[in-house]
Amino acid sequence: MNIPVLILTKDESSQNLLKLFIEENKSFNFLASTDDFEKAFLAVSELKNSVLIIDISENEDFAIDFIKKTVEKNPECKVIALTENYSAETVIKAMREGAAEILRLPLIKEKFLKTLEDIKNAFDGKKVKSDKCKTISVFSNKGGVGKTSIAMNLALELAKNTKENVALVDLNFQLGDVTTFWDLKPTYNLSYMLKNTDTLNKDFLLNTLDKYKDTSLYILADPPYFKQAGFVSESDVENLFKVLKTSFSYIIVDTTSGFGMKTMKALSLSEMVLLLTTMDIPALRNCQRCLELFDSEDFEDDKVKILVNRFMETDDIKIEDVEKLLRKKVFWKIPNNYFTMMSANNLGVPAAEVNKESNVARSFKDLSILISDSIYKQNF
Ligand SMILES: Nc1ncnc2c1ncn2[C@@H]1O[C@H](COP(=O)(O)OP(=O)(O)O)[C@@H](O)[C@H]1O
Ligand SMILES: [Mg+2]
Repeated sequence: MNIPVLILTKDESSQNLLKLFIEENKSFNFLASTDDFEKAFLAVSELKNSVLIIDISENEDFAIDFIKKTVEKNPECKVIALTENYSAETVIKAMREGAAEILRLPLIKEKFLKTLEDIKNAFDGKKVKSDKCKTISVFSNKGGVGKTSIAMNLALELAKNTKENVALVDLNFQLGDVTTFWDLKPTYNLSYMLKNTDTLNKDFLLNTLDKYKDTSLYILADPPYFKQAGFVSESDVENLFKVLKTSFSYIIVDTTSGFGMKTMKALSLSEMVLLLTTMDIPALRNCQRCLELFDSEDFEDDKVKILVNRFMETDDIKIEDVEKLLRKKVFWKIPNNYFTMMSANNLGVPAAEVNKESNVARSFKDLSILISDSIYKQNF
């Protein structure tokens, strides 16, 4: 297959450089470069599979709108956005509106070539597993702050956006939070798997485990009130993660409140810990204590990310106050949306299924884009 590539930028030197890079991959064929949006749009509309490389550094909003319009009309076109203003906000906006990838200018050749290769695999229908599996735990020492809601919706959005295999591990055991939320009856119980990690392998995991609807999200949980199959130790958790890492690109862990040994093991094995808080003094105090404990456990400062849940603009406490108190930046905030979250619980479905345009569903999606993108770029 020879995939035509169109370049849309004003900058002649980057047109030339891109052309040279494209010629290095025989699956792609440089078609034309232009600085005219209309022409590019018409050209893409004439093609079946194609790649459009677009510089969005100038007139970012206009360029991102153009990406949206192009991808909506031509779902077979993969867009690579380039920008000098590489920020979380820009990355999320571009990817949310349909860019397949966004790369920083000046362009790094290896990253560009890797992106082309990923796009080729996507056209071939090949699933690519990220080189490394990333484990992300959602934690708070307080109940009811949204750990389960966030772990589940984030895991699902990661699966939908990356199409890679995502494992959601519910460490609540007998309480079966995850299975209750989405009304699931897992064929294999997590505690059984934890006691038999030596018999687990890739085939078993990917062929036998239940997928959530027709996504690439796999759920590892116990049903509620399940009598646990024997005592689960820290090393069982460690072994399970080791096996999961061979088959999954992401492991998302829903934890219980408290610093139990299994939870601490999961946190210490995670590449990222999303530490949840709400914007009230008791939750923030709690969060402060968690940070102190993580510090004494020698967790890398950067691995722990503050996530504010149930955020409201009108709160008395402001984000700046939180950052001052915790002496740490807030990584992400999820808006309070009682109506959507309550309907999701009552219907036993994810937030996006209640209303994918709701602020809370968009926030889960954007968080997943940020996390998958920063992983890809090895930013954390
Ligand atoms: N952003 C949000 N807006 C409104 N309600 C939320 C939000 N996040 C979670 N909730 C609700 O808060 C309650 C507790 O959430 P849950 O995920 O069970 O917390 P945890 O796992 O920390 O105990 C649930 O009823 C959930 O629907
Ligand atoms: Mg929970």
